[in-house]
Amino acid sequence: MKPASELSGKVVLVTGAAKRIGRCVALHLAGKGARVLVHYNESEEEARKTATDCGSDDLFRANLESVAEIEAMFASIETKIGRLDGLVNNAARFTRIHPFDVTEQDWDFIHAVNLKAVFFCCQQGAKLMGKHGGGRIVNISSLGGMRPWAEHAHYCASKAGVIMLTQALAKAFAPDITVNSVAPGVIPFGPADERVQTMIRQTPAKRPGEGDEIAAAVAFFLSASNFVTGQNMAVDGGLALR
Ligand SMILES: NC(=O)c1ccc[n+]([C@@H]2O[C@H](COP(=O)([O-])OP(=O)(O)OC[C@H]3O[C@@H](n4cnc5c(N)ncnc54)[C@H](OP(=O)(O)O)[C@@H]3O)[C@@H](O)[C@H]2O)c1
Repeated sequence: MKPASELSGKVVLVTGAAKRIGRCVALHLAGKGARVLVHYNESEEEARKTATDCGSDDLFRANLESVAEIEAMFASIETKIGRLDGLVNNAARFTRIHPFDVTEQDWDFIHAVNLKAVFFCCQQGAKLMGKHGGGRIVNISSLGGMRPWAEHAHYCASKAGVIMLTQALAKAFAPDITVNSVAPGVIPFGPADERVQTMIRQTPAKRPGEGDEIAAAVAFFLSASNFVTGQNMAVDGGLALR
């Protein structure tokens, strides 16, 4: 008899789950028996497809720029589902702008979703998890939070912030809630431009990564004991080593 998956019956919210890495994470977790709650903002049609493919109709819309919308989403999860065992903070933004040209608006555009929203989702998620014995949080950071990319200084700062948030909140929420992060390397979903091609050539694994490889690392942290917390795992084919 096949042993029950450690995620069997666990309720896990994945933010930005309509497309790309978020969709891969949602499908992977559903495949391991989790009840996946699909968050989206603009991509309703794709989110519905992700939910259907996960065997779920648990869809939650929120613009994560707004703390009020984040609070309303977690309140709605509590009312409709009643509990939360796992949270994957995947939703993010990415822009390429030389630091001389970054405006206040450009800075806030990135940090509102990549860092502020991750903090408030962790806060709201942990409060809900705490009502039923605890849970697991996984934040998706980035290789760009570990290595400096000149034309992405604003993005790199937001993702370095996610790695530090992960550590600080791991201490704050212990022992019942763990907080870990996964730092993807190059995970393309379409044609790669010259800059991305160069990064792929520099990757010791000699290839780009796939969404399912990020999902497997997320599943590991969601299933691990509370002795694994505050960690950031690069899933990057070794690119961070260069
Ligand atoms: N792809 C890579 O190579 C790579 C590399 C390093 C790190 N990462 C990280 O991995 C994660 C996923 O990457 P990805 O490339 O798959 O992401 P993505 O497609 O750029 O974005 C994922 C989702 O984030 C959601 N989102 C953006 N702004 C939002 C807002 N204001 N409110 C709510 N949701 C919002 C969007 O949802 P809607 O479409 O529903 O609006 C979007 O589909 C991100 O954290 C990213 O930084 C990716």
